[in-house]
Amino acid sequence: MTPRDPSSPPASAQESGNARSALVACRDAALTFGLGTRAVVAVHGASLSVQPSDRLAVVGPSGSGKSSLLHLLAGLERPTSGTVTWPALAEDARNEIGLVFQGDSLIPALDVAENTALPLVLAGRHQRQAREAALDALARVDAAALADRLPEELSGGQAQGVAVARVLAQAPRLILADEPTGRLDHATGAHVLTALLTAADTTGAALVITTHDPSVAARLSTRFTMRDGRVLTVGHRSPDRETDS
Ligand SMILES: Nc1ncnc2c1ncn2[C@@H]1O[C@H](COP(=O)(O)OP(=O)(O)OP(=O)(O)O)[C@@H](O)[C@H]1O
Ligand SMILES: [Mg+2]
Repeated sequence: MTPRDPSSPPASAQESGNARSALVACRDAALTFGLGTRAVVAVHGASLSVQPSDRLAVVGPSGSGKSSLLHLLAGLERPTSGTVTWPALAEDARNEIGLVFQGDSLIPALDVAENTALPLVLAGRHQRQAREAALDALARVDAAALADRLPEELSGGQAQGVAVARVLAQAPRLILADEPTGRLDHATGAHVLTALLTAADTTGAALVITTHDPSVAARLSTRFTMRDGRVLTVGHRSPDRETDS
Protein backbone atom coordinates (compact mmCIF):
# COMPACT_ATOMS: atom_id res chain seq x y z
CA MET A 1 0.00 0.00 0.00
CA THR A 2 1.53 3.30 -1.01
CA PRO A 3 0.59 6.43 0.95
CA ARG A 4 0.18 9.55 -1.17
CA ASP A 5 -0.01 13.22 -0.46
CA PRO A 6 -3.57 13.91 -1.61
CA SER A 7 -2.81 17.54 -2.43
CA SER A 8 -0.17 16.81 -5.07
CA PRO A 9 -0.68 15.24 -8.51
CA PRO A 10 1.38 12.15 -9.49
CA ALA A 11 5.02 13.32 -9.39
CA SER A 12 6.45 11.05 -12.05
CA ALA A 13 5.66 8.72 -14.93
CA GLN A 14 6.43 5.86 -12.59
CA GLU A 15 3.90 7.12 -10.07
CA SER A 16 1.20 7.55 -12.71
CA GLY A 17 2.08 4.04 -13.93
CA ASN A 18 1.61 2.82 -10.35
CA ALA A 19 -1.70 4.64 -10.27
CA ARG A 20 -2.83 2.69 -13.34
CA SER A 21 -1.67 -0.66 -11.95
CA ALA A 22 -3.30 -0.09 -8.55
CA LEU A 23 -6.00 -2.61 -7.65
CA VAL A 24 -7.55 0.09 -5.48
CA ALA A 25 -6.60 3.71 -4.90
CA CYS A 26 -8.04 6.12 -2.31
CA ARG A 27 -7.54 9.82 -2.76
CA ASP A 28 -8.39 11.84 0.33
CA ALA A 29 -11.21 9.38 1.01
CA ALA A 30 -13.28 10.06 4.11
CA LEU A 31 -16.19 8.16 5.61
CA THR A 32 -18.59 9.76 8.06
CA PHE A 33 -21.51 7.97 9.69
CA GLY A 34 -24.51 9.97 10.91
CA LEU A 35 -25.25 13.68 10.75
CA GLY A 36 -24.68 16.86 12.77
CA THR A 37 -23.74 16.38 16.39
CA ARG A 38 -24.13 12.62 16.01
CA ALA A 39 -21.64 12.41 13.12
CA VAL A 40 -18.74 9.99 13.55
CA VAL A 41 -15.79 10.37 11.21
CA ALA A 42 -14.69 6.74 10.81
CA VAL A 43 -12.01 7.52 8.18
CA HIS A 44 -10.30 10.90 7.70
CA GLY A 45 -8.93 11.69 4.24
CA ALA A 46 -7.04 8.46 3.50
CA SER A 47 -4.76 8.56 0.44
CA LEU A 48 -3.19 5.24 -0.46
CA SER A 49 -3.05 2.58 -3.12
CA VAL A 50 -2.80 -1.20 -3.14
CA GLN A 51 -0.67 -2.79 -5.85
CA PRO A 52 -0.73 -6.43 -7.05
CA SER A 53 1.16 -8.75 -4.65
CA ASP A 54 1.12 -6.19 -1.80
CA ARG A 55 0.96 -7.76 1.69
CA LEU A 56 -0.52 -5.25 4.10
CA ALA A 57 -1.54 -5.25 7.73
CA VAL A 58 -3.88 -2.57 9.10
CA VAL A 59 -3.55 -2.32 12.88
CA GLY A 60 -4.96 0.07 15.47
CA PRO A 61 -7.22 0.17 18.53
CA SER A 62 -10.87 -0.86 18.47
CA GLY A 63 -12.93 1.88 16.78
CA SER A 64 -9.92 3.39 14.96
CA GLY A 65 -11.51 2.81 11.55
CA LYS A 66 -9.91 -0.43 10.28
CA SER A 67 -13.16 -2.07 9.17
CA SER A 68 -14.43 1.22 7.73
CA LEU A 69 -11.24 1.59 5.64
CA LEU A 70 -11.57 -2.00 4.43
CA HIS A 71 -15.22 -1.43 3.47
CA LEU A 72 -14.15 1.62 1.43
CA LEU A 73 -11.47 -0.48 -0.33
CA ALA A 74 -14.12 -3.14 -1.05
CA GLY A 75 -16.59 -0.61 -2.44
CA LEU A 76 -19.05 -1.66 0.25
CA GLU A 77 -19.23 1.94 1.49
CA ARG A 78 -19.01 5.04 -0.69
CA PRO A 79 -16.65 7.73 0.57
CA THR A 80 -18.43 10.76 2.04
CA SER A 81 -15.74 12.85 0.35
CA GLY A 82 -12.71 12.07 -1.80
CA THR A 83 -12.54 9.11 -4.17
CA VAL A 84 -11.95 5.38 -4.18
CA THR A 85 -11.17 3.80 -7.58
CA TRP A 86 -10.11 0.36 -8.83
CA PRO A 87 -7.90 1.28 -11.83
CA ALA A 88 -6.63 -2.23 -12.66
CA LEU A 89 -9.89 -4.09 -12.03
CA ALA A 90 -12.75 -4.70 -14.44
CA GLU A 91 -15.70 -2.29 -14.47
CA ASP A 92 -17.70 -4.74 -12.40
CA ALA A 93 -15.02 -5.48 -9.79
CA ARG A 94 -17.26 -7.59 -7.58
CA ASN A 95 -15.74 -10.92 -8.63
CA GLU A 96 -12.18 -9.63 -8.34
CA ILE A 97 -12.46 -8.48 -4.73
CA GLY A 98 -12.89 -10.98 -1.91
CA LEU A 99 -13.90 -9.63 1.49
CA VAL A 100 -13.72 -11.68 4.67
CA PHE A 101 -16.14 -9.91 7.03
CA GLN A 102 -15.28 -9.33 10.67
CA GLY A 103 -18.64 -10.56 11.96
CA ASP A 104 -20.91 -13.47 11.09
CA SER A 105 -21.48 -13.55 7.35
CA LEU A 106 -22.62 -17.08 6.52
CA ILE A 107 -26.16 -17.60 5.23
CA PRO A 108 -28.02 -19.65 7.87
CA ALA A 109 -30.10 -21.74 5.43
CA LEU A 110 -27.11 -22.92 3.36
CA ASP A 111 -24.67 -25.58 4.49
CA VAL A 112 -20.94 -24.84 4.67
CA ALA A 113 -20.15 -26.11 1.16
CA GLU A 114 -23.07 -24.12 -0.32
CA ASN A 115 -22.00 -20.99 1.56
CA THR A 116 -18.44 -21.37 0.31
CA ALA A 117 -19.55 -21.96 -3.29
CA LEU A 118 -22.11 -19.14 -3.31
CA PRO A 119 -19.95 -16.32 -4.78
CA LEU A 120 -18.91 -18.62 -7.63
CA VAL A 121 -22.50 -19.71 -8.32
CA LEU A 122 -23.60 -16.05 -8.30
CA ALA A 123 -20.76 -15.29 -10.75
CA GLY A 124 -22.23 -17.90 -13.13
CA ARG A 125 -19.92 -20.86 -12.44
CA HIS A 126 -21.43 -24.33 -12.98
CA GLN A 127 -22.79 -25.80 -9.73
CA ARG A 128 -20.49 -28.82 -9.75
CA GLN A 129 -17.35 -26.78 -10.51
CA ALA A 130 -18.30 -24.30 -7.80
CA ARG A 131 -18.75 -27.12 -5.28
CA GLU A 132 -15.35 -28.62 -6.19
CA ALA A 133 -13.64 -25.25 -5.75
CA ALA A 134 -15.48 -24.80 -2.44
CA LEU A 135 -14.41 -28.21 -1.10
CA ASP A 136 -10.80 -27.54 -2.16
CA ALA A 137 -10.84 -24.15 -0.38
CA LEU A 138 -12.39 -25.69 2.76
CA ALA A 139 -9.60 -28.30 2.80
CA ARG A 140 -7.00 -25.52 2.69
CA VAL A 141 -8.29 -24.17 6.03
CA ASP A 142 -8.76 -27.68 7.50
CA ALA A 143 -12.55 -27.35 7.33
CA ALA A 144 -13.39 -30.07 4.79
CA ALA A 145 -15.13 -32.14 7.48
CA LEU A 146 -17.59 -29.29 8.07
CA ALA A 147 -18.91 -29.23 4.48
CA ASP A 148 -22.38 -30.58 5.29
CA ARG A 149 -22.96 -28.60 8.48
CA LEU A 150 -25.22 -25.59 8.83
CA PRO A 151 -23.69 -22.34 10.17
CA GLU A 152 -25.61 -22.76 13.47
CA GLU A 153 -23.69 -26.01 14.01
CA LEU A 154 -20.29 -24.25 13.87
CA SER A 155 -18.18 -22.65 16.57
CA GLY A 156 -17.27 -18.98 16.05
CA GLY A 157 -13.77 -19.95 15.00
CA GLN A 158 -15.02 -22.59 12.57
CA ALA A 159 -17.41 -20.05 11.00
CA GLN A 160 -14.50 -17.66 10.59
CA GLY A 161 -12.46 -20.36 8.82
CA VAL A 162 -15.36 -20.99 6.45
CA ALA A 163 -15.62 -17.25 5.70
CA VAL A 164 -11.93 -17.33 4.72
CA ALA A 165 -12.47 -20.44 2.56
CA ARG A 166 -15.33 -18.65 0.74
CA VAL A 167 -12.88 -15.95 -0.35
CA LEU A 168 -10.14 -18.47 -1.24
CA ALA A 169 -12.60 -20.34 -3.51
CA GLN A 170 -13.31 -17.10 -5.33
CA ALA A 171 -9.55 -16.59 -6.12
CA PRO A 172 -9.94 -12.78 -6.21
CA ARG A 173 -7.17 -10.38 -7.26
CA LEU A 174 -7.69 -8.30 -4.13
CA ILE A 175 -8.23 -10.10 -0.82
CA LEU A 176 -9.49 -7.93 2.04
CA ALA A 177 -9.71 -9.79 5.33
CA ASP A 178 -11.15 -8.11 8.41
CA GLU A 179 -9.59 -9.73 11.49
CA PRO A 180 -9.71 -13.18 9.85
CA THR A 181 -7.94 -14.80 12.81
CA GLY A 182 -9.64 -12.80 15.58
CA ARG A 183 -11.72 -15.73 16.87
CA LEU A 184 -9.09 -18.42 16.31
CA ASP A 185 -6.51 -19.88 18.69
CA HIS A 186 -2.90 -19.05 17.83
CA ALA A 187 -2.09 -22.26 15.94
CA THR A 188 -5.32 -22.28 13.92
CA GLY A 189 -4.96 -18.57 13.19
CA ALA A 190 -1.41 -19.10 11.95
CA HIS A 191 -2.66 -21.88 9.68
CA VAL A 192 -5.49 -19.74 8.25
CA LEU A 193 -3.03 -16.89 7.65
CA THR A 194 -0.72 -19.30 5.84
CA ALA A 195 -3.67 -20.37 3.64
CA LEU A 196 -4.38 -16.70 2.80
CA LEU A 197 -0.70 -15.96 2.05
CA THR A 198 -0.33 -19.11 -0.06
CA ALA A 199 -3.46 -18.31 -2.04
CA ALA A 200 -2.24 -14.76 -2.65
CA ASP A 201 1.22 -16.02 -3.66
CA THR A 202 -0.30 -18.55 -6.07
CA THR A 203 -2.56 -16.07 -7.84
CA GLY A 204 -0.49 -12.89 -7.41
CA ALA A 205 -3.35 -11.33 -5.47
CA ALA A 206 -2.87 -8.45 -3.06
CA LEU A 207 -3.69 -9.11 0.57
CA VAL A 208 -4.92 -6.52 3.09
CA ILE A 209 -5.55 -7.83 6.61
CA THR A 210 -6.81 -5.90 9.63
CA THR A 211 -5.62 -7.38 12.89
CA HIS A 212 -5.06 -6.82 16.60
CA ASP A 213 -2.50 -9.64 16.64
CA PRO A 214 1.18 -8.53 16.32
CA SER A 215 2.17 -12.03 15.15
CA VAL A 216 -0.23 -11.68 12.19
CA ALA A 217 1.04 -8.20 11.32
CA ALA A 218 4.64 -9.45 11.54
CA ARG A 219 4.04 -11.88 8.66
CA LEU A 220 3.00 -9.09 6.28
CA SER A 221 5.56 -6.81 4.65
CA THR A 222 3.85 -3.45 5.25
CA ARG A 223 1.99 -2.24 8.31
CA PHE A 224 -0.44 0.67 8.53
CA THR A 225 -1.45 1.93 11.95
CA MET A 226 -4.81 3.68 12.35
CA ARG A 227 -5.89 5.92 15.20
CA ASP A 228 -9.15 7.91 15.39
CA GLY A 229 -9.80 7.35 11.69
CA ARG A 230 -6.37 8.48 10.51
CA VAL A 231 -3.74 6.33 8.87
CA LEU A 232 -0.80 7.33 11.03
CA THR A 233 2.31 5.33 10.32
CA VAL A 234 3.60 2.96 7.73
CA GLY A 235 6.14 0.30 8.67
CA HIS A 236 8.01 -1.80 6.14
CA ARG A 237 9.49 -5.11 7.13
CA SER A 238 11.98 -7.04 5.06
CA PRO A 239 11.66 -10.84 5.25
CA ASP A 240 15.03 -11.25 7.03
CA ARG A 241 14.29 -8.68 9.76
CA GLU A 242 11.80 -8.85 12.59
CA THR A 243 11.70 -5.10 13.36
CA ASP A 244 9.83 -2.40 11.50
CA SER A 245 11.57 0.56 9.93
N1 LIG B 1 -22.58 1.75 10.61
C1 LIG B 1 -22.06 2.61 11.48
N2 LIG B 1 -22.80 3.63 11.96
C2 LIG B 1 -22.29 4.54 12.84
N3 LIG B 1 -21.01 4.50 13.28
C3 LIG B 1 -20.24 3.51 12.84
C4 LIG B 1 -20.70 2.51 11.92
N4 LIG B 1 -19.69 1.65 11.67
C5 LIG B 1 -18.64 2.08 12.38
N5 LIG B 1 -18.96 3.21 13.09
C6 LIG B 1 -18.06 3.99 13.94
O1 LIG B 1 -16.89 4.30 13.17
C7 LIG B 1 -15.73 4.19 13.97
C8 LIG B 1 -14.78 3.19 13.33
O2 LIG B 1 -15.35 1.90 13.41
P1 LIG B 1 -14.66 0.63 12.76
O3 LIG B 1 -15.64 -0.50 12.86
O4 LIG B 1 -14.15 0.97 11.43
O5 LIG B 1 -13.44 0.38 13.78
P2 LIG B 1 -12.40 -0.82 13.86
O6 LIG B 1 -11.04 -0.23 13.90
O7 LIG B 1 -12.69 -1.81 12.80
O8 LIG B 1 -12.73 -1.45 15.30
P3 LIG B 1 -12.60 -2.98 15.81
O9 LIG B 1 -11.14 -3.22 16.06
O10 LIG B 1 -13.41 -2.98 17.09
O11 LIG B 1 -13.17 -3.89 14.76
C9 LIG B 1 -16.20 3.82 15.37
O12 LIG B 1 -16.31 5.00 16.13
C10 LIG B 1 -17.56 3.21 15.15
O13 LIG B 1 -18.39 3.36 16.26
MG1 LIG C 1 -13.28 -3.78 12.81
